[in-house]
Amino acid sequence: MKLKVKTNKNSYSVIVGKNLCSKIDKIIFKEGIRSQKFLLIYDSKVPTQMIKSILRRFNKKEIEKKKIVFNEKSKNLKTVSSIIKILEEKNFSRNDCLISVGGGICGDVSGFASSIFKRGLNFINLPTTLLSQVDSSIGGKTGINSLSGKNMIGSFYQPSLVISDINFLKSLPRKEMICGYAEILKHSLIKNEIFFKFLKRNFIKILNHNHKLLERAIYKSCIIKKEVVEKDEKEKNIRKVLNLGHTFAHAYEATIGYNKRLNHGEAVLLGIMSAVEFSHQKNILKKDDYKQIHDHLKKLNYYNLNRYFKSNDISKIIFYMKQDKKNKDNKINLILLKGIAKPLLNKSFKGNSIKSFLKNLIY
Ligand SMILES: NC(=O)c1ccc[n+]([C@@H]2O[C@H](COP(=O)([O-])OP(=O)(O)OC[C@H]3O[C@@H](n4cnc5c(N)ncnc54)[C@H](O)[C@@H]3O)[C@@H](O)[C@H]2O)c1
Ligand SMILES: [Zn+2]
Repeated sequence: MKLKVKTNKNSYSVIVGKNLCSKIDKIIFKEGIRSQKFLLIYDSKVPTQMIKSILRRFNKKEIEKKKIVFNEKSKNLKTVSSIIKILEEKNFSRNDCLISVGGGICGDVSGFASSIFKRGLNFINLPTTLLSQVDSSIGGKTGINSLSGKNMIGSFYQPSLVISDINFLKSLPRKEMICGYAEILKHSLIKNEIFFKFLKRNFIKILNHNHKLLERAIYKSCIIKKEVVEKDEKEKNIRKVLNLGHTFAHAYEATIGYNKRLNHGEAVLLGIMSAVEFSHQKNILKKDDYKQIHDHLKKLNYYNLNRYFKSNDISKIIFYMKQDKKNKDNKINLILLKGIAKPLLNKSFKGNSIKSFLKNLIY
């Protein structure tokens, strides 16, 4: 399955399917990329046989490779420098190409390195986690962490091609599958009720790697992200809907201290739950839709904030919610829902109002 993402200056294909790595050379050629040299940057956890199946499709002379241990700590300038060093040593020109094979971190770092090397090197992204296949590989945001926080240094830089091979997901831990599912669910809730119903019927099979359903879920999800991004590449307004659940989620992650106990996607599920409960309490969300979303989140088993937080964490959560980039005038800006596929943007609330709301959920 293939879709085209159109941006202000150009367009690129996103290809979703099985066994794509074993014909990567043909795909690259068909997509019109004519680079002479390639640098393959890959995440150390991607199975070796997948990397080998890619390398086999190139002449030894035309491809360099570097394995990197990617995590939020190595999502930094030092890693970017180590990539650029190879590009310089091997005399890459801007018509040559960097290929990223890894999750969202690998893609964000490699994309950023590509965007600054000689002001823009061809960049092909092969996302290997569900989250990166449905979310971070589309939209052109690249970046690294800095002292002031996550993703604080970066650029908008569109790839030349995205290849999402679902074979990569076979080795992905279930927790990471849930993480990607959270963003798929988010996409359905902001844009497509039929897709939400499809997810409700099929989520167990999707999480258990049913090929057809998984491929369909990834493809549909990419289409929704593409449509939003095409309307608002630089996040001036509409693109904010992609933040559904994220103001809460970022604060939950920060309060826990960014550790494995609650990864980003799990925090997003709790964040969606919170945004949905808040919308319900404020009589913004249609009752029937509330019930449907509520039932689905319950089945996913991400409904209980008490499992992660104590009542004395609430002030910390509010503190982090106030740091959100969308906020103005010391109020907290939330993306809420009027119904399934009916998001409500730019609603702001006082910290105290959210504090008393959270007191009902965390006790
Ligand atoms: N650019 C964007 O628009 C955007 C959007 C959302 C998230 N992000 C960023 O993406 C990052 C999260 O991405 P992620 O969830 O993919 O995390 P990740 O890149 O850390 O990958 C998750 C884990 O899976 C491992 N892994 C990767 N591929 C694997 C495979 N095939 N088999 C087994 N293990 C594998 C990784 O080593 C890591 O331990 C965050 O840094 C976030 O800021 C960016
Ligand atoms: Zn997210």
